[in-house]
Amino acid sequence: MKALKEHFKDEFLIGAAVNQNTIDQDADLLKTQFNSITAENEMKFEEIHPEPGQYDFTIADRFLKFAEDHDIKMRGHTLVWHNQTPDWFFKDDKGEDVSRDELLDRMKQHIKTVMTRYKGRIYAWDVVNEAVSDDEGVELRPSKWLEIIGEDFIDYAFQFAHEADPDALLFYNDYNESNPDKRGKIYRLVDGLIKRDVPISGIGLQAHWNLYEPSYHDIDTALKRYSELGLTLHITEMDVSMFAFKDKRTDVLKPTEEMLDLQAKRYKEFFGLFKKYQEHISCVTFWGISDRYTWLSDFPVKGRINWPFLFDEKGKPKSSFDAVVN
Ligand code: G3I
Repeated sequence: MKALKEHFKDEFLIGAAVNQNTIDQDADLLKTQFNSITAENEMKFEEIHPEPGQYDFTIADRFLKFAEDHDIKMRGHTLVWHNQTPDWFFKDDKGEDVSRDELLDRMKQHIKTVMTRYKGRIYAWDVVNEAVSDDEGVELRPSKWLEIIGEDFIDYAFQFAHEADPDALLFYNDYNESNPDKRGKIYRLVDGLIKRDVPISGIGLQAHWNLYEPSYHDIDTALKRYSELGLTLHITEMDVSMFAFKDKRTDVLKPTEEMLDLQAKRYKEFFGLFKKYQEHISCVTFWGISDRYTWLSDFPVKGRINWPFLFDEKGKPKSSFDAVVN
């Protein structure tokens, strides 16, 4: 069996999101199949910078060491996001919102501290994550960043990131690329950054997809449209959701043959598209390693189990794996 990273070595890197458990449980799979990792949560603001002036790099350092020991690259996720960022970051001693200048200064310090530590070692960063709104008629998502700094918080984030590590690839990362309205807003945002000479290198398409949506056509259109901007594209958080509910009367819970076949068909189509746009796509990352663990199990409802990846709960290749490599 040829490993994924070997199979796609002339096209793109093959990545996986990791956390403290999966990096141990699926270490062999990681080492043999993948050549890029992303920390699922451990480099997000609340984890790496939990208190004013206090950074905790313990776990991120550990992941990077694992990567370097095994000739695996690492993506950084994420620097500026509305989510998983503590409230204190936006407040002064009296509990009032800080000024625009103060927040820009804090943003600069955070980006500089984190990126300088990993300069030359983390090759790509999701600098700004999910800043675009899902609501029609609204361009940017309401957030403390937008409220206090204004729309140019995104420009500043990329500038500070570029100053911290001029060689790192800098990404704008978002989801719902299949939705024409959202896609249009992401396109306009990135196009504006390019026109203003903001140092952005690429767009991350999260690719949280399922057995029925989005359509092949939707993703073909998204990849075509984003490619026109002339930046590198990364598939950053791929999963093809396939789930069932736990039945309290039985112990056995697994996907049906029909579900497995459909998932394999979907993966085949999507990887066919990635190959079609291989000149533009340089990394395809799954948001996990194997079906042993996924953020999608018990989400959005408890008891709903998900099997979204190419490897099953024992780390064995599924028909989805065969569909991707054959
Ligand atoms: O760490 C705490 C723990 O102390 C606490 O006891 C426990 C109780 O719920 O929660 C733990 O935090 C959880 C955290 O993951 C770490 O496991 C949070 O509740 C949970 O909400 C959080 O979910 C993460 C989610 O981002 C948060 O937005 C998922 O693991 C992670 O996969 C997901 O990743 C995001 C990407 O960063 C951005 N794109 C979407 C993607 C999926 O939502």
